[in-house]
Amino acid sequence: EKDGHDWFMRKEIFEQPRAVADSLLGRRDASGRLQLDEMRLADEELRDIDKIIIIACGTSFYAGMVAKYAIEHWTRTPVEVELASEFRYRDPIIDATTLIVAISQSGETADTLQAIRHARSQRAKVLAICNTNGSSIPRESDAVIYTHAGPEIGVASTKGFLTQLVACYLLALYIAQVKGTRFGDEIDEIMEHLEAMPGHIETVLSGADAVYSLAADHASSRSVLFLGRHAGYPVALEGALKLKELAYLHAEGFAAGELKHGPIALVEDGLPVLCVVPPKGRDQLHGKMLSGIQEVRARGARTICLAEEGDTSIEPYADELIRLPKVPVLLQPLVAIVPLQLFACELATVLGHDVDQPRNLAKSVTVE
Ligand code: M6R
Repeated sequence: EKDGHDWFMRKEIFEQPRAVADSLLGRRDASGRLQLDEMRLADEELRDIDKIIIIACGTSFYAGMVAKYAIEHWTRTPVEVELASEFRYRDPIIDATTLIVAISQSGETADTLQAIRHARSQRAKVLAICNTNGSSIPRESDAVIYTHAGPEIGVASTKGFLTQLVACYLLALYIAQVKGTRFGDEIDEIMEHLEAMPGHIETVLSGADAVYSLAADHASSRSVLFLGRHAGYPVALEGALKLKELAYLHAEGFAAGELKHGPIALVEDGLPVLCVVPPKGRDQLHGKMLSGIQEVRARGARTICLAEEGDTSIEPYADELIRLPKVPVLLQPLVAIVPLQLFACELATVLGHDVDQPRNLAKSVTVE
């Protein structure tokens, strides 16, 4: 049942091209317009939305962080992202024109469920992004986008995360379509990039062996840092979470621009730092990331850089280099997280841990 893999997690990592493809299936009608089957929110209701609050926990929260970049950029609607466990207790400002997006793989996470109950009591509309048909969160929501990852057995979420990202991109594009903030051909172009993703993820997976040997090289590390910027920042946080959960290692993700505001003090000789390098674009993200990488390396860090194919400017500063396919910055999390999943899975395996059942953790957290 593990298809020849040692762990469900590893099997699920390798299922990601299929899971992403399935989550994109049937989302456009004959004329190419996006359609979301269980949207159940009328176009007028969506047009009235003036604020979106995404609530989730753990890995799903990091998918929500990526969603913020995409939704704000494509729809110009303000987005907040909040941990479900914090949301209710800060007396959030919500009303009938607020859309709550609850992201939950299991659909049973107690913190998220309580948060949507609170939001609905304040008349907000709730849309769930969920992988489990008929679970509590979609049942108690006004609308749902189901992800089609298939059952996720490993406690650490992998294909759940990728398909949540896909659902978030679809939601962003759908709102853009309804609000008319993006012209049809731009939506088409982004959809084409999304439809190419399963192939790109395959390409990343074909490099798994190189990532495994890197993981084995770092098995005796006491601490590992992850750096990212923009949509790569949540990827850094998620990469660190995977390593904490599975390898029981101290791992932390940072926004690269924050380094000099404190975290750089952690850098010492030999510290592995995994860096998610944004694609080279017209903005200054790439250059700024490079200078962050130089700073940690100058202080003795061992830099493991994830950078797009053809980016040679990174070479002088990368002790190790993992190549990513060329994709737009907002979609890069779909390919950039994959080596980090493989890295954590392999490192934990080398350390002799139970990857599918890490200590102290449950697959779905049904208590607050
Ligand atoms: O089922 P949910 O998406 O609501 O679960 C949220 C978190 O408990 C979950 O993502 C957790 O952080 C995973 N173990 C991460 O790998």
